[in-house]
Amino acid sequence: MFDRSKKGENALLIQPHFGKLEEDVLEEFGDLARSAGASIAATITARLDRPNPSTLIGSGKLDEIKAAADATGADLILVNHSLSPGQERNLERFLERRVIDRTGLILDIFAQRAHSHEGKLQVELAQLRHLATRLVRGWTHLERQRGGSIGLRGPGETQLETDRRLLQKRVEQLQKRLEKVETQRTQMRRARLRSELPRVALVGYTNAGKSTLFNALTGAEAYAADQLFATLDPTVRRIAVPGGSVVLADTVGFVRDLPHDLVAAFRSTLSEAREADFLLHLVDAADPHREERIAQVDEVLTAVGAGDLPQLLVFNKIDRIEGGEVRHDGQDGIPDPSRRERVWISARDGEGLELLQSVLGKRLGLQHVSGDLRLPPSAGRLRARLHQLEVIRSEAADEDGWLLQVDIPIAEAEKLAASPDGGPIRALLPEKLPEW
Ligand code: GTP
Repeated sequence: MFDRSKKGENALLIQPHFGKLEEDVLEEFGDLARSAGASIAATITARLDRPNPSTLIGSGKLDEIKAAADATGADLILVNHSLSPGQERNLERFLERRVIDRTGLILDIFAQRAHSHEGKLQVELAQLRHLATRLVRGWTHLERQRGGSIGLRGPGETQLETDRRLLQKRVEQLQKRLEKVETQRTQMRRARLRSELPRVALVGYTNAGKSTLFNALTGAEAYAADQLFATLDPTVRRIAVPGGSVVLADTVGFVRDLPHDLVAAFRSTLSEAREADFLLHLVDAADPHREERIAQVDEVLTAVGAGDLPQLLVFNKIDRIEGGEVRHDGQDGIPDPSRRERVWISARDGEGLELLQSVLGKRLGLQHVSGDLRLPPSAGRLRARLHQLEVIRSEAADEDGWLLQVDIPIAEAEKLAASPDGGPIRALLPEKLPEW
């Protein structure tokens, strides 16, 4: 159903902006356009001091855009901003070419990337909703085009001619099917819950390397490509980590300003993140804007209700940074929020995966240390803390203090050992934690 265009369409990119334009906004826009299969004819920025309600962009700028489109032979105009149906139509009339806004562009990429039945249904539903308002007043101002072209992929032109009633029927049908798929998913999720394995979701900005890491950890042939949104559908697998097993879920890549109706349309894939016990937040370490990306992903996580989940930052692609090496930072002492605990790996080369699994096992409390602990009478505070943590198996008191049998998750034991009165715990810890 979702045809891809055979030839790359030649697109003119328009970047509207208010105030100062950040360079990475342009870079990301170019990536999005290329991900949709377009080749870029030229990029024009348009400052919107007083946005024109009927065309968004002012008339002087539009003349410039038209001239550039003619000169470069562009057959498509991409606008990195959301447009009302009216604005889109007016721009198309003036520029005599198809105009696609940011939502339409992202939807088009989603349409190309959806693999599962559910993903395809969700994309078609979102596309129909996006098209519905643009469709009812006709599409006659543009010559109709055959074949899958950017923004016209998916529902296809026969549906573009369908009247509102038929469209509504299709939307209802899709909604019903989606509800059914979602019920099935909920049942599967319950079954998974019963297995009581901790659930870990891989999250991160698009292209950070989530699918690559997922494959490396699971040995599965999930889909990975050097394009945005390689992952649209969550994939779930069980993997072993030191001390036990976890259920690992891959999720869709996050992107800044994901249109809100899309967040809603893809909630089932984002819900993998919300329902996880722990997040592996993957970061492209070679991205010069990596700290901003982290903040943008955190923002989306908060928006889908996953902002408070414990997470571990995983800096990927160390092979692409100078002096990059497998490392684990910030693991001891009180975590400094600006230097959160992070593990450095290369998913592509399989470097640091053992360290990552070991840290994951520890953070999830799967690895324990156990043994006898002799506490002098002066160690009352430590003993109280151990009681609080419910890690004491048995206890006996004599004139020299207490003799305890304990079983402590390694992460807790390390924290206790680092505290001023944690001496007795230090003796319990292996000199070097078993790597795995
Ligand atoms: P989305 O689905 O768009 O969110 O992408 P993703 O985060 O799942 O990224 P994916 O695994 O598809 O990887 C994106 C690109 O980065 C691919 O070309 C990978 O080969 C590449 N990549 C992933 N990990 C590494 C790495 O450790 N080093 C290098 N050099 N490239 C990597």
